[in-house]
Amino acid sequence: KDDRISRISSTIRVIPDFPKPGIMFQDITTMLLDPVAFKDTIDLFVERYKGKNISVVAGVEARGFIFGPPIALAIGAKFVPMRKPNKLPGAVISEEYSLEYGTDTMEMHVGAVQAGERALVIDDLIATGGTLAAAIKLLERVEANIVECACVIELADLKGRDRLGDKPLFVLISST
Ligand code: PRP
Ligand code: MG
Repeated sequence: KDDRISRISSTIRVIPDFPKPGIMFQDITTMLLDPVAFKDTIDLFVERYKGKNISVVAGVEARGFIFGPPIALAIGAKFVPMRKPNKLPGAVISEEYSLEYGTDTMEMHVGAVQAGERALVIDDLIATGGTLAAAIKLLERVEANIVECACVIELADLKGRDRLGDKPLFVLISST
């Protein structure tokens, strides 16, 4: 295993009981304070995806906006933001998805991704998988080909990857 991954892992701070009791929050902002760990994180994704003919990197608001753009630039792909509702100014398509309590909505600009494009979906973390599943649905509605979903951290006990159907998931750190 790549020894960069254990270094990256050591820079992620875990904050108990945030945002509510019982949740162990995986805080990637402390990794961003370490330029080597941040660069290694981006490099590990770039090494995996360069040369794979990916034309679009879709990043999920908000923390997918931190990791998606540097990966997109390095592999020569465009970046498409998948946003919380009523933030994008143009025509959008929307997907509702379930949270622990209630629902949220994710939106993507019409025309940002063309049918047949090869897409990579990026977020910081997969928990229940609801967020990535919504991103997949949006991309499938415009007939993009989803090459893979990628996250820094997977909370493996929650089995979120089971909600991604046949779409592969790549993670740097699988936490139990
Ligand atoms: C967190 C995290 C993922 C999502 C994972 O985002 O950044 O996007 O939850 O959860 P899931 O797999 O159960 O859907 P959050 O909704 O807290 O918002 P943020 O990224 O804007 O902080
Ligand atoms: Mg998020």
